[in-house]
Amino acid sequence: PVLVVDYGAQYAQLIARRVREAHVYSEVVPHTLGVAEIVARNPAAVILSGGPASVYAENAPAVDPALFEAGVPVLGICYGFQAMAGALGGTVARTGSREYGATVVELTASGDLLADAPPQQTVWMSHGDSVQAPPEGFEVLATSPGSPVAAFEDRERRLFGVQWHPEVKHSVLGQKVLERFLYEGAGLEPTWTPGNVIAEQVAAIRAQVGDARVICGLSGGVDSSVAAALVQKAVGDQLTCVFVDHGLLRAGEAEQVEQDFVAATGVDLRVVDAADRFLDALAGVTDPETKRKIIGREFIRVFEQAAREIVAEAGGDEVRFLVQGTLYPDVVESGGGEGAANIKSHHNVGGLPDDLQFELVEPLRTLFKDEVRAVGLELGVPEAIVWRQPFPGPGLGIRIIGEVTADRLETLRAADAIAREELTAAGLDRDIWQCPVVLLADVRSVGVQGDGRTYGHPVVLRPVSSEDAMTADWSRVPYDVLARISNRITNSVPEVNRVVLDVTSKPPGTIEWE
Ligand code: XMP
Repeated sequence: PVLVVDYGAQYAQLIARRVREAHVYSEVVPHTLGVAEIVARNPAAVILSGGPASVYAENAPAVDPALFEAGVPVLGICYGFQAMAGALGGTVARTGSREYGATVVELTASGDLLADAPPQQTVWMSHGDSVQAPPEGFEVLATSPGSPVAAFEDRERRLFGVQWHPEVKHSVLGQKVLERFLYEGAGLEPTWTPGNVIAEQVAAIRAQVGDARVICGLSGGVDSSVAAALVQKAVGDQLTCVFVDHGLLRAGEAEQVEQDFVAATGVDLRVVDAADRFLDALAGVTDPETKRKIIGREFIRVFEQAAREIVAEAGGDEVRFLVQGTLYPDVVESGGGEGAANIKSHHNVGGLPDDLQFELVEPLRTLFKDEVRAVGLELGVPEAIVWRQPFPGPGLGIRIIGEVTADRLETLRAADAIAREELTAAGLDRDIWQCPVVLLADVRSVGVQGDGRTYGHPVVLRPVSSEDAMTADWSRVPYDVLARISNRITNSVPEVNRVVLDVTSKPPGTIEWE
């Protein structure tokens, strides 16, 4: 792998992504990893990330100069660039002239790193210290107003560095710099492709699972679907998938999993129709958190029951493995992913009781979301699933404000289907993060339709744009699209006589209403 050494910047993951976009496999490792451990991983190249520290700070993470003697090509970025310069005898100074944001750098030599770059390029800078003089053996490739040495390389030793952040999109030719380092600097081939990922994972799953049986909880979302499809490809009918239909799904979703997904992948699927059970458990409940807890609890019970049945049919403890759709960002965020994996409580089948002990199969542990999608497409998972927008586990149960009943679910499903159809027809699916449709079941308002007075319920459209759902803004959906949605809903869903638009960002609003 290409190892991205994380100096505590939020950029390390981004660098790893960009390397993979160049079709080279990469992983993030903490800066506390010693040179011996780094070398032991046999890296094809090492990238030192940016970081918040100043190389002068008291406890600034240092770079062990031994790294540069290991014969591994290294690229230093921002802090990593300065630490590299310092460790090899260059001069790093705190000049007081900070550079932050878009900056133009001038090429002074092309070298390997900037070979086909134009004389000037706009890059993204974020630093206080700067490299004044390069270490011996290095050629200066670029300068900027605040950085006498903005890029350098030592072609002999395959050591490279840039003061700017090539991984961010604001560095216009940033990806090019990373690619030059990977392909020319480190001599790597762009072989990390969905096809190769699949071949690798299939082999790994077979090695892990052997002849044992595997179960997987399908939610209809991207991650669990692609994980299941991979395991299916690896061990075929040793896999049984369980899909709990809690009756809180949108129109067509259960069918998508039951028919399209099964047809595309050939998985052995058990659908547990538990709609009545969930409705019974939710009867009379209006408090959002109580609803969530009930749905979560029932979900686990139903899944557990199905798992026990599968175990019993297979004759005892032959079912040893549980598939989880854990992604790489979760792994990195929970501390680098070394050692034994735990079932995370926020996963759909999380919180499984201790007496159902499974070992985890996590074939997406090394992948980012966009890679999961690419792998899914390559495996033939239906596009409607691969490109599915986020949908909460508790489903429509938290989009009916008030008690959840079968009639209300039917009303909301009809309104939601229209909204989704029109947003898709307008080509907005990839611009919008998701668009909850919310039924205000306890609110009524007066309307007029034909010659008659109506006294119906409003639905709320909540289209949002977001990067990660932590923050969001309301999407500026064109008025004519909103008009079509509103007309169609009020004309064809009898209980609804008003459509309103939620124009609140997150914060202060959350994306879902409950
Ligand atoms: P909020 O409403 O907190 O939602 O702004 C953020 C994102 O998370 C989704 N969401 C959930 N996803 N189980 C899930 O799998 C849940 O219980 C859940 N609640 C909210 C929501 O749709 C949005 O994408």
